[in-house]
Amino acid sequence: ATKGDMHIDPLRTVAKEMKFLTGNIRQLLGSGHPALDRAAKYYTQAEGKHVRPLIVLLMSRATALCPKNESTPAFTHDSINSSISPLDILSDVNPSSPLSTPLSGFSSEPEFTESDILPSQRRLAEITELIHTASLLHDDVVDHSVSRRGSPSANFEFGNKMAVLAGDFLLGRASVALARLRNAEVIELLATVIANLVEGEFMQLKNTARDERNPKYSEDIFNYYLQKTYLKTASLISKSCRAAALLGRADVITVDAAYSYGRNLGLAFQLVDDMLDYTQSGKDLGKPAGADLELGLATAPLLFAWKTTPELGSLVGRKFEQEGDVQRARELVIKSNGIEQTRALAEDYSQRAIAALDTFPDSEAKDGLIDMAMKTLKRQK
Ligand code: FPP
Ligand code: MG
Ligand code: MG
Repeated sequence: ATKGDMHIDPLRTVAKEMKFLTGNIRQLLGSGHPALDRAAKYYTQAEGKHVRPLIVLLMSRATALCPKNESTPAFTHDSINSSISPLDILSDVNPSSPLSTPLSGFSSEPEFTESDILPSQRRLAEITELIHTASLLHDDVVDHSVSRRGSPSANFEFGNKMAVLAGDFLLGRASVALARLRNAEVIELLATVIANLVEGEFMQLKNTARDERNPKYSEDIFNYYLQKTYLKTASLISKSCRAAALLGRADVITVDAAYSYGRNLGLAFQLVDDMLDYTQSGKDLGKPAGADLELGLATAPLLFAWKTTPELGSLVGRKFEQEGDVQRARELVIKSNGIEQTRALAEDYSQRAIAALDTFPDSEAKDGLIDMAMKTLKRQK
């Protein structure tokens, strides 16, 4: 569908919607408690890549052209109220309470009533970024990270307690925004994502299902890694793509295709992430490089290397904890073709993501989704 067009900018297709994203998210995160307000909004200051909301908005626009599910009632929250405000959640706060955020000064976005992207789909884009940001707040505590997006991490800036609580606050506000969509299936999907993130993180605490001192490489170990990767990264992208299609009342074929795109893109995205941890400098990444081995994690490049380098087994078994382990593992991975094989697998998933869109009619938004799948492979940070 790209037809040799070299000038697709996925951002341009949904630029109007993206422009309001950070402002709306900051509105959702308002707290009258100054320290909480600051910690909660901290990761919204540095410009993130906003990959997830971008995908949700592109998917919303691309699926608007697909067949509808005639059994979904047209009488949805969108048709009742075409402007679900991102801020309306403050109805639970006593306005006289010192902790309430004043409602004044809120300039609502114009609601683009002519747009094919529904207000509920725009809210969904914000929710995905909130859940993602909450997971980063917690992740940096779990990983003892001191930097993120080229700045001090939240845990470094505010301490572990406030970083964890700020993450919980984000999840609370994301849940309120989710409930406001008045769509039980979408609520269930995104609530499952939150559980999946924790499940993925738990799987990651152990490199394999069993703890062995000198494990042998097996396909089970690789499948465990892929399952973990789905849970910690691809679940959010795939289920929010599915939710975007559902909110647009797309038919079941389209809903499944949206999910498949998100799943394959998410897996490609994390494989590239795990590759960059070996190939990029910390300066390029805006966060520490080579962090995975330091954390005891055996990701795809190492698993591929392990296949042909049995010596890695004992290092994996003791989580690269002995003096010189990290250095030795890095050498063995770089000497092997683990990095190339990781890139090839990521390319494979990226192709599958693109193939999932086959039934979608050609559109600028579809080209944007295809471009996202290709850009995922090229990204440097
Ligand atoms: C980043 O991975 C982390 C995640 C994608 C998910 C982390 C999930 C938790 C900490 C569980 C808690 C979840 C919620 C919803 C609060 P990474 O460490 O590989 O990436 P990085 O290099 O960017 O740190
Ligand atoms: Mg981390
Ligand atoms: Mg982590």
